[in-house]
Amino acid sequence: MRRQWLIVILVFGLLVWLRWGKILLSHLANFFRHRLPWQPLTFASLEAYGRWLPTAVCWQMEPLHGLLDTFPSLEHIAWQLKTRGRFADDCDGLAYFSAHNVLPFCDDPQDCYVASVVLNPFAVGWLYTAHALCIFRSGGAWRVISNDYLYPQHWNSFEEALQQNDYCLGWPLLYAEIRDAQLHYQRAWRPPAGQPTQISQRGEVVTPTEQLKEEHQAIKLMLSILEGMSQRLDAGQAVSTEHLEQSLEFIRLFADRCHHGKEEDVLFPAMEAAGIPKGGGPIGVMLLEHDAGRGYVKGLAEAIARYKAGDRQAAVAITTNARNYIALLTQHIFKEDNILYPMADMRLSPVRQARMLEEFDAIERERLGPGKHEELHKMLEHLQGVYL
Ligand SMILES: [Fe+2]
Ligand SMILES: [Fe+2]
Repeated sequence: MRRQWLIVILVFGLLVWLRWGKILLSHLANFFRHRLPWQPLTFASLEAYGRWLPTAVCWQMEPLHGLLDTFPSLEHIAWQLKTRGRFADDCDGLAYFSAHNVLPFCDDPQDCYVASVVLNPFAVGWLYTAHALCIFRSGGAWRVISNDYLYPQHWNSFEEALQQNDYCLGWPLLYAEIRDAQLHYQRAWRPPAGQPTQISQRGEVVTPTEQLKEEHQAIKLMLSILEGMSQRLDAGQAVSTEHLEQSLEFIRLFADRCHHGKEEDVLFPAMEAAGIPKGGGPIGVMLLEHDAGRGYVKGLAEAIARYKAGDRQAAVAITTNARNYIALLTQHIFKEDNILYPMADMRLSPVRQARMLEEFDAIERERLGPGKHEELHKMLEHLQGVYL
């Protein structure tokens, strides 16, 4: 009961703020901001705009942790683009920016909106309760942009786009304030009567991040095996080239192609689509670390090839690359387990998580092939017996 009252107060407070307070404060703030004349930007296609977006905009928290949340003016955006080479703002500024840039691709200029949505904070966490999206109709289909992410999906109606985009999907949507591209108030959206405002608890099913954490355990075991091999090489002992190549195969197939593939092609885009910014945030850091890891694996592969050809000096290059990789992946896994995955658990709706598990299965099938997962785990067990 207390929760219901808190929700009523929250929605009412946000309604007053979004409808009047924020617009007034935006006018005031823009009066003091740097300005340059706004020149409309041109793009060859909507998709070209979607690709350009992450290179040109940057999600940035507004002052006082978003309490002073305002819409920037187009003139201030022009000033940022001209003087800084990119535009930084939080979700509403980025939605407003996109609403202007997609206007040439809209079926009708009136089919372009900035929607401020309010979700149930008890379901998604207080940090994600309010968000702004750009929703527009292009080529007869409704499309959505969230921060710097153009959703690949299309919807038949504005209502569907509003409720089924990956930010709102499956979460109880409490309220939405719809404005046009010039930020003129159009209408409010409220859930149909009887729609639940509380979300049911998840059952005991395995979640995508639980699956990824399990894979981390296997990867950490391989890192220990690599350390065991390195210690033997340090002591001047020979290590079987077959075992070295097996470790390399495990890292390339299981850790990189499969596990990092699930993160890069499913988890990170899902988090991005759910409003967690890619640039300047944890997702961007994880991607950089994946790339750094690939560099060490390349160095390791070259060193193993030299070692196999009889060059015993290559042992040093093997242990150096192996230990760099071990250090990198150990802290990378710690950050994912303790920061990134809890963030995903909190933000991704049960509907989206169920779809992700299917996408994970497809990655295993297509990138590892039948039986390979089991084969790699058997190999891991065998190496564990030899080196640990
Ligand atoms: Fe990762
Ligand atoms: Fe990972």
